[in-house]
Amino acid sequence: MYSLFLTAALAGLPALILAAPYAVTCPTTPSPFPKAASFDKVTTLPDPFLYLNGKDRVKTKEEWFACRQPEIMQFLQEYQYGYYPDHSLEAVTATKSGKALSVVIAVGSAKATISATINLPSGASASSPAPVIISIGGMDHAAYLAKGIAVVTFDYSAVAADSNSKTGSFWTLYKGKDVGTLLSWAWGFHRVLDGLTLAAPEIDNRRVGVTGCSRLGKAALAAGLFDQRITVTMPMSSGVQGLGPYRYHALSGQDETLENSKSGAGWWNDSTLGTFVQQSERLPYDAHTIAAAIAPRALIIDQGRSDPYTNSKGTAIVVYPAVKLVYDFVGSNGTTPAAGQPKSMIGMALRDGGHCDNSGYSNVLPFVQEVFFGTATTRNYDDLSPWAAMTTAYPWSSDIPK
Ligand SMILES: *[C@@H]1O[C@H](CO)[C@@H](O)[C@H](O)[C@H]1NC(C)=O
Ligand SMILES: *[C@@H]1O[C@H](CO)[C@@H](O)[C@H](O)[C@H]1NC(C)=O
Repeated sequence: MYSLFLTAALAGLPALILAAPYAVTCPTTPSPFPKAASFDKVTTLPDPFLYLNGKDRVKTKEEWFACRQPEIMQFLQEYQYGYYPDHSLEAVTATKSGKALSVVIAVGSAKATISATINLPSGASASSPAPVIISIGGMDHAAYLAKGIAVVTFDYSAVAADSNSKTGSFWTLYKGKDVGTLLSWAWGFHRVLDGLTLAAPEIDNRRVGVTGCSRLGKAALAAGLFDQRITVTMPMSSGVQGLGPYRYHALSGQDETLENSKSGAGWWNDSTLGTFVQQSERLPYDAHTIAAAIAPRALIIDQGRSDPYTNSKGTAIVVYPAVKLVYDFVGSNGTTPAAGQPKSMIGMALRDGGHCDNSGYSNVLPFVQEVFFGTATTRNYDDLSPWAAMTTAYPWSSDIPK
């Protein structure tokens, strides 16, 4: 059901078709999507339960999954990421030789390759497959391998260059598309997972994490968002277009805003996001909305306390408690996951140190082990100290649907 639903959502089918199996009638999403100027400036985090039409509000969990979550997926593509390619038109094949995985994606007569490297923990085999973290840009492999978790890496810059050059496997297939590199890199994660599923039986494709740091943390967030097969999303020091809020950017004193991600790397996003420059308070969402659309799948957020530039404080005291309210809402029906299936969990992994400190990986590892193996951790991933949740940032918290 999930993959069908994802394909339909990505192909832009009307919400009504998505809603049909749930017997829920969804409010109509404005079409075409409203322009920046038609949204009011909202200075607090927008209500995640309020539909884009500005009138209707989610009433039940069923409605969240049938209507609101798909609406969020649609407008995030419109306003930020660009539209995900139609995966049903891609033919994917893969071969493995030792640690080397080669994934070939064909669209019509065009072909592109993504090369990945598989690092297996000892004991992994087809009869005892290991859960996996797909990682870009480097991480603490040893800590994960020692706990029985495989680490698979690929060269993100060969999927899409981190520049305006529009080169790499993604652009070989999708030249001219109005898509940011964050979505291109996310697509790369997904095609590597396709390849693992086809050619690496030592990997358990039902227990999959995605990670990266800084701009690659923004990409890991997108990877978790756009593919329901991802069981745990692990954005590290991710900042704006990751889990740093567009609003409340002054909290850390010095931090990343929509305006300075413009001077940084305008190619990360689609062209519509640019229309919100100098008026990001008109965005009908914020970082908490992106994270909420991942629920009930697991999400663990890394930030260093001494990383003001990516607004660690804003992520911890504004975004995290706001999205946790949504996780609590969608996960509060007493459903326990089937044996072998990961739990629905969200956590904030604050640590000492600054931007992209490798220690972040061992800091989130107990959470990942709990998701993959069900081994409960005593590490408190709700601890926001030395800060505290800023409840005035999400005034809708007093009106959570039942
Ligand atoms: C992406 O957003 C930035 C603002 O952060 C904007 O300056 C840039 O033009 C946008 N990218 C594209 C391709 O329009
Ligand atoms: C319970 O919530 C989970 C999300 O945590 C959802 O997937 C499931 O469909 C819900 N079940 C019922 C009976 O509402």
